[in-house]
Amino acid sequence: MNQKLKTSLAFAKNLLVTGAISETSRQVEIDICKHISKENSKVIVEFGMGHGNITQEILNTISPTSKLYTFEVNKSFCNHVKNNIKDHRLIIINDGAENLKLHIKEDINAVISSIPFSFFSKEKGLSIIQNAYDLLENNAYYSQVLYTKFNFKKFQQVFEKCEMTSNKNFFTEYIYHCKKVIKV
Ligand SMILES: C[S@@+](CC[C@H](N)C(=O)[O-])C[C@H]1O[C@@H](n2cnc3c(N)ncnc32)[C@H](O)[C@@H]1O
Repeated sequence: MNQKLKTSLAFAKNLLVTGAISETSRQVEIDICKHISKENSKVIVEFGMGHGNITQEILNTISPTSKLYTFEVNKSFCNHVKNNIKDHRLIIINDGAENLKLHIKEDINAVISSIPFSFFSKEKGLSIIQNAYDLLENNAYYSQVLYTKFNFKKFQQVFEKCEMTSNKNFFTEYIYHCKKVIKV
C-alpha cells in the first residue's frame, strides 16, 4: 500500500479528530508557507501535523538556525513523523493547539495550521486564535487551511488584516492568511 493511501486510511479512522480523509494538496503545502521568514533564528509553530506533509515543507523553507514546534493530538501521528522526518530543528509536541502557551514562551514568526476549526466550539476556536495572536511578532502571519469559509469571521475578530484564497480541488481548500498589525 502506498504512503498516501496509508495516510488517508489513518485520517479516515480518526475522522472526528482529523476532519479530513486525505492530506492537503501540494498547492496548499506551498501556499500556506508563503509568509514564513527565511531569516536566521526564527520560531515557527504548526498546529495539526498529521503525517507531516506541511511540516516537511516548513522545514524546507526555514533557515538552518530556525526551529519548528509542531502540535499534534494524535500520538501515532507523532510517532510516524518522529520515525520519518529526522531534523534537529523539529520539536514535536503531543498536545493540543489550545495549550500553546503552556509550551511556548518565545515570540513566534509564523503559525501554520490545518486543525479542524469546524469541530471546535466557538470559545475554543477563538481562544486558539487569540493565544497565537498574542505570541506572534508584529507583522507576522497565522495561516490556516480549511475546507470551509465559515471560520473566517473568527480570525477577522482577532487579526487586523485577513485574506482568504481558495484552491479548487475535489474538496475546495481555503487558506486564510491573517496578519498581526500593531501600529507603533
Ligand atoms: C486535516 S488534518 C491535517 C494534517 C496535515 N497537516 C495535512 O495538511 O494534511 C488535521 C490534523 O490536526 C490534528 N488535530 C486535531 N485537533 C487538534 C488540536 N486541537 N491540536 C493539535 N492538533 C489537532 C489531527 O489529529 C490531524 O492530524
